[in-house]
Amino acid sequence: METAHDELKDNTIIVVLGASGDLAKKKTFPALFGLYAQNYLPRDVKIIGYARSKMDLPEFHKRATSYIKNPDDSPEIAAKIQDFKDISTYLAGSYEDGAAFDELNKRLEDIEAGYQSKECNRIFYLALPPSVFIPVAKNLKEHCYVTKGGVNRIIVEKPFGKDLDSARELLSSLKRYWTEDETFRIDHYLGKEMVKNILVLRFANVAMNAAWDKNSISNVQITFKEPFGTEGRGGYFDEFGMIRDVLQNHLLQVLSIIAMERPVSFAAEDIRDEKVKVLRAIPPIERDDTLLGQYVAANGKPGYLDDDTVPNNSVCPTFAATTLWVHNPRWEGVPFILKAGKALNEAKVEVRIQFKDVTQGIFKDIARNELVIRIQPSEAVYLKLNAKTPGLYTRAMPTEMDLTYKRRFSEAKIPEAYEALILDAMKGDHSNFVRHDELDVAWKIFTPILHWIDGKDGPRPRPVNYPYGSRGPKELEAFVKKYGFKRNTEGYVWPVSSLASL
Ligand code: BG6
Repeated sequence: METAHDELKDNTIIVVLGASGDLAKKKTFPALFGLYAQNYLPRDVKIIGYARSKMDLPEFHKRATSYIKNPDDSPEIAAKIQDFKDISTYLAGSYEDGAAFDELNKRLEDIEAGYQSKECNRIFYLALPPSVFIPVAKNLKEHCYVTKGGVNRIIVEKPFGKDLDSARELLSSLKRYWTEDETFRIDHYLGKEMVKNILVLRFANVAMNAAWDKNSISNVQITFKEPFGTEGRGGYFDEFGMIRDVLQNHLLQVLSIIAMERPVSFAAEDIRDEKVKVLRAIPPIERDDTLLGQYVAANGKPGYLDDDTVPNNSVCPTFAATTLWVHNPRWEGVPFILKAGKALNEAKVEVRIQFKDVTQGIFKDIARNELVIRIQPSEAVYLKLNAKTPGLYTRAMPTEMDLTYKRRFSEAKIPEAYEALILDAMKGDHSNFVRHDELDVAWKIFTPILHWIDGKDGPRPRPVNYPYGSRGPKELEAFVKKYGFKRNTEGYVWPVSSLASL
């Protein structure tokens, strides 16, 4: 399977704006290092960190490498970290002031003065809060854009607005400076190995694809669970809530790949055309199809409202389940349940496709088939199916066909999502980035429900409580049942515990 894209270019500089922030420290720099250490960056690449904070180079290097792992203190990795520091420099400057960007441009030109050819490629990664997206995008275009050959690219990350209108405003402001072709909008779920795998599982397998519709499938659940609360990030979170944080972007992206029709090719626009098409068949979410929750103190852990960064009496949901309907011939009547929560009993992201009951007659009350795509942790695909109990009697029992990555691909290194995406952006491949019209339709689906939750149409709905560390609100069981989900393999446990020994 080949994807068409430009090859990696020499003469490339990567500028990380917001270099002193959390995202850069935890995700961007470790991903850049991962690519660098595996020789996936252009040979002569240079990295410049840019942020408001004044700090000297050793301090910057310390921060930028603080999340890079070297658990065994390997001298080889230590040497690579040193090389990585050697290609990285830092510049402090304002986000609003054009003169500061002239300084940045000078730094870029100083490096480029040493190039053999005239071509200069500049990649700008905005690890920034949305309040400065637009001034930075503008200043980069006006002060740091190369026109003498080579490419300029800008990588941006959510939040892209808070509803349809604000997202449109933000997008159109960015578009004044950067073309769609130059813009790479990250949804880091699209860089996850198992999310990328969905296209292959679906379209490279006749057996799989044949059962992929309303005739065979009863319901689909896409679930995100985190075992920790907002813990200090409550100020940010409270403004956004669980739907904006995870459902409207990460889980909806997964849904679109599960539900889309087969693209004509693996070219970025072919894939994104199909994703947009299926999203357009989804009407805005109804209030009745929504369950909101907020965690309260339990098991020695604080509740959401106990977080000092959260406003008193906040009704912000830290758990949300919503059911979406796709009005097209393939999916009419099949509920797609998206659910996500913080402070739950485990860390898990998975897609669970539950098939319909087998026709009654020779079998009675046997378990439904389920195809589970475990996105993280412990990547796996397994199909729950019924088999004859071994022995002299003919009786059906639930069991599974199991593709657990750690077992089947024990030598393989699964890349970090950000590594995969930064590499794609360097290659100019947009397949795993969010197109402007995709974002627009995603906001159309969620905006009415968000306005209701924000109290724009009346009193704000009060989320139900759930204890920190639980499976979520107790109302969840009835909620999923309402859409036909049958928990009919009572006592069945997916043998993930056996993975501990791998
Ligand atoms: C981010 C959300 O987009 O995704 C966070 O803002 C969430 O709240 C994170 O924790 C989850 O990402 P991952 O890769 O850990 O599943």
